Amino acid sequence: MTTLLPEGDGPASPYHPDTRAIASPMTAPPAEDRPAPARRPIRSYVVRPGRIGPGQARALAELGPRFVLPYRAATTDFALAFGRSAPLVLEIGFGMGDATARIATARPEIDFLGIEVHPPGVGALLKRIGELGLTNLRIVQHDAVEVLQQMVAPESLAGVHVFFPDPWHKLRHHKRRLIQPAFVRLLASRLAPGAILHCATDWENYAAQMLEVLSAEPALRNTAAGYAERPSLRPLTKFENRGLGLGHGVWDLLFEKR
Ligand SMILES: C[S@@+](CC[C@H](N)C(=O)[O-])C[C@H]1O[C@@H](n2cnc3c(N)ncnc32)[C@H](O)[C@@H]1O
Repeated sequence: MTTLLPEGDGPASPYHPDTRAIASPMTAPPAEDRPAPARRPIRSYVVRPGRIGPGQARALAELGPRFVLPYRAATTDFALAFGRSAPLVLEIGFGMGDATARIATARPEIDFLGIEVHPPGVGALLKRIGELGLTNLRIVQHDAVEVLQQMVAPESLAGVHVFFPDPWHKLRHHKRRLIQPAFVRLLASRLAPGAILHCATDWENYAAQMLEVLSAEPALRNTAAGYAERPSLRPLTKFENRGLGLGHGVWDLLFEKR
């Protein structure tokens, strides 16, 4: 998630380029003349390189140009990108894309836009797209916050999936959690009336945060009394399976845009 707040967990080294000039007592200007400290956005992810296997590398080279849409700071005509006009559902943080590919296979009448920053995940989903011959799926490899802000027109989405977002379980990292009031406001603004925002998590206190934040957003209405049953459309995801193996519960939340 991108919010312009000072980042407490950033590099504290006096040799960090942002701070080197004011770290030396010989060169420090008077406090009132110093520029405001650089503000770095707080992001909901850390990009870890990971290993890209040969199949993923081939998929990136062969299918990337057709199925990966470049990030642009401009409203995008997705009907043009898909070559047809169909309801568009966006998924944030698809991981390795197994659930994404299965949902897109089950719903050929819907176009899916998967957003992920993890390079091997993009390669893995492209590989699945090739194996399954999917035509109703595109990928943007970029921060979902900026994609929603810049590329997605208001009230244009038929749905949003946020499955098992990073829980950032340490209290001091909770500010990195994706589901926060400002981001939910942005999400709600991009949903068409009647569209569904579907979140799922296996972290109980994140589920409680989701329920509180989503319930407080005036543009959304809970479709259930509290948590929802897992819709049959949502396959088990990789992270969900891992959580279940650790004995975690799973909570689904389904909110409708008013
Ligand atoms: C815990 S994983 C879950 C992956 C998948 N949904 C699943 O259930 O298996 C969360 C994923 O969200 C991605 N992510 C987190 N914040 C993101 C953002 N702002 N934009 C795009 N991807 C993001 C991470 O890279 C990570 O792969």
